[in-house]
Amino acid sequence: MIQTLIEQLEAEHILPFEDLIRLLTEADDDDRAFLFQRARAVTDRYYGHDIYTRGLIEFTNYCKNDCLYCGIRRSNRHVERYRLSEDDILACCREGRKLGFSTFVLQGGEDPFYTRERMCHIVSAIREHFPECAITLSIGEKSYDDYLAYYKAGANRYLLRHETADELHYAKLHPPELSLKNRMRCLYDLKAIGYQTGTGFMVGSPGQTPQTLAKDLLFIHKLQPEMIGIGPFIAHHDTPFKDCANGTLDMTVFLIAVLRLIRPNALIPATTALGTIHPDGRKMGVLAGANVVMPNLSPLNVRHQYTLYDNKIYMDAEAAESRGRLKEEMASIGYRITDARGDMKPL
Ligand code: 5AD
Repeated sequence: MIQTLIEQLEAEHILPFEDLIRLLTEADDDDRAFLFQRARAVTDRYYGHDIYTRGLIEFTNYCKNDCLYCGIRRSNRHVERYRLSEDDILACCREGRKLGFSTFVLQGGEDPFYTRERMCHIVSAIREHFPECAITLSIGEKSYDDYLAYYKAGANRYLLRHETADELHYAKLHPPELSLKNRMRCLYDLKAIGYQTGTGFMVGSPGQTPQTLAKDLLFIHKLQPEMIGIGPFIAHHDTPFKDCANGTLDMTVFLIAVLRLIRPNALIPATTALGTIHPDGRKMGVLAGANVVMPNLSPLNVRHQYTLYDNKIYMDAEAAESRGRLKEEMASIGYRITDARGDMKPL
């Protein structure tokens, strides 16, 4: 029965709410194996066994927000805060480019120091030095005009997870000044401007249920994002959620496969969080339909300060070293790290 639902999902890219709940709650091991096989076949049709890489530059850990799950929330006094200068950022890009990266992801907390002007200056400089590369921003909720300005300065892609598509659940994870409504406004603005837009959520965040997950899947189907990032929730010791259970490997890879059938040609990373909860996490993500990895290019001396969750992997690895390890990891399951830019392929 569940396998019929999986076939229906592959054909129609979405299921009615109640069927999504059944898929999420009733799939057994055989159904899971069937789902992974279907998801991998779909990935293969568009991307073969190529895995794209994105060089992640965590350029500021200052954040004006106080999200309950996040290690760099503003009320965490135990974080030593840092900002990278434009020169620091360009140095990361240069190193990344030498290693074969063709996408740079500038990720940071919501840090008011990086005004529209400063951000545009940084983006323009990267655009000028690396005209062939994609520039991805992941810097949170901004106004339409901010997003437009970054785009005109040369940014191509934007990552903003919606975190949960359920209002009540959203309110449990975030402080009162943040709203799901504004988050969604941001995502639709980004799409309208022309960004390749990424969204996603944490798997197993406190209060998540099959119902909230089904809403996430319906929202993603409606938004039609080019990129979908999901990873397990991992408790951070200095947050209100410190004693909460982590999301699981099984649920995360299951959802990666479901998302692959919902968005056949999307770019879906096997995230660092997935690699953190299990040594084979990222390989299992790829075997469930993921086709992107995002190694860290942030300078080693600040990397420990960008801790969204506990036990993050590759904290001490040189960028070159982690790229090498990733290559081996992917080769061991028959996949190949490629240096291509990795834009979304058409359906
Ligand atoms: N565990 C897992 N993922 C987290 N993120 C933030 N905090 C955690 C955590 N404790 C994710 C959020 C955010 C992305 C940058 O990192 O989903 O959008």
